[in-house]
Amino acid sequence: MVLFSIEILRGCYMLDGREKIAMLMFSDADSTRYEVPIPLPKMNLQDQAAKDPIYSVEVNMDPFSLVVKRKSTDTVILDISHGGFIFEDQLLQISSSVPSKYLYGLGEHEHESLLHQNWNWHRWGMFSRDEFPGPNRNLYGVHPMYLNIEDDAANSHAILLLNSNAMEAVLTPMPGITWRTIGGVLDFYVFLGSTPSEAVSQYINAIGLPYFPPYWALGFQLCRWGYNSLDRVKQVVDDMRNADIPQDIQYGDIDYMSDQLDFTWNKTSYAGLPEFVQDLHQHGQHYIIILDPAIGASQPAGSYPPYEDGKAKDIFIRHGDGRPMLGKVWPPGNAAFPDYTNTTTHTWWQNHIVDFHRNVSFDGLWIDMNEPANFVQGSVEGCTNNQYNNPPYKPGKHGKIILL
Ligand SMILES: *[C@@H]1O[C@H](CO)[C@@H](O)[C@H](O)[C@H]1NC(C)=O
Ligand SMILES: *[C@@H]1O[C@H](CO)[C@@H](O)[C@H](O)[C@H]1NC(C)=O
Ligand SMILES: *[C@@H]1O[C@H](CO)[C@@H](O)[C@H](O)[C@H]1NC(C)=O
Repeated sequence: MVLFSIEILRGCYMLDGREKIAMLMFSDADSTRYEVPIPLPKMNLQDQAAKDPIYSVEVNMDPFSLVVKRKSTDTVILDISHGGFIFEDQLLQISSSVPSKYLYGLGEHEHESLLHQNWNWHRWGMFSRDEFPGPNRNLYGVHPMYLNIEDDAANSHAILLLNSNAMEAVLTPMPGITWRTIGGVLDFYVFLGSTPSEAVSQYINAIGLPYFPPYWALGFQLCRWGYNSLDRVKQVVDDMRNADIPQDIQYGDIDYMSDQLDFTWNKTSYAGLPEFVQDLHQHGQHYIIILDPAIGASQPAGSYPPYEDGKAKDIFIRHGDGRPMLGKVWPPGNAAFPDYTNTTTHTWWQNHIVDFHRNVSFDGLWIDMNEPANFVQGSVEGCTNNQYNNPPYKPGKHGKIILL
């Protein structure tokens, strides 16, 4: 077993003058492990030692246990003394009781109801994946978080496990939950509420607020792949107008593009696209285009600025030896994957969006394929056979295979 250390941090949100977030981190005592590079509210903690937390944290070393309680009711929010704790390089497992079966969250999957009903060792695999919805499948996003309503007074807490490795959460009859992840650290945030909406808003404030949609984006929208020509799109929009069916937004899927390349449009089948978008605007309507995050990398030299500019700015993900790591998506040939965690990439992406907008004055972007999706395993050169591509434990096999 890897020697682990526990860090118990005090919350930096002081709501109503009471500290309402507990942060617990289990990490490797001897070496650095991967942590999700997203700045959650850990900063300024040194200055914010808890004065009057609404929770208590008790740790015992022999045998190892850790208990978080809500002071006002003595409710045990988290208790890992039931055993099963594993801290290995490629398997981290931790089990806790939960106060009640009123538990919501853990995504993204199809859930039959918002309230979790299946406590019979049901495994929810989590690893973002371009996967058609279906029972138990791990889908496009990951939210390793749940909301639990503890008692009749509706005291509630939310727990986030900030970890982006492939993982699973198993609901057990106790009632309890077992988390298993194949990398990183066990970085828990416990949001103490105490109402359900307070717990959720503490969580949302920590991870970041969703964007505020423009009013028009709430209107009636029409979208499909395969109009195949602007004439057909115009016909559809005209038919809607003539039939007095309200339509606020028309979309363009990848068939507006030339060779399915971002920041292009087919000058034959979609000739007149800029003027069409102006016409939508004159009718108080809006146009949303699709963009894919991977960039066509097989165009003749000098013909596709987004790729060449990206290569010059060194934004694409590379193999360990420095060669570009190429995969395949919709454009013919290969595709390169920009590193969207890099601010250089943000600037490159923004510049090309702004340039394209000068020609086609679209109103919104539909970012597709950003799980990220790739049509080949690994890269066009295959997938290196090593312990990371073939982990000894693959989470989430209860439903669809989690790792592809
Ligand atoms: C442009 O559209 C036409 C008609 O659909 C199609 O035949 C042609 O392949 C497209 N060209 C490109 C470069 O996508
Ligand atoms: C971002 O990309 C630039 C250009 O390749 C590189 O110099 C820099 O190290 C990258 N930053 C990170 C955080 O990866
Ligand atoms: C916009 O249109 C101009 C003029 O036709 C052209 O030179 C330029 O390449 C176009 N830019 C994009 C991003 O389509």
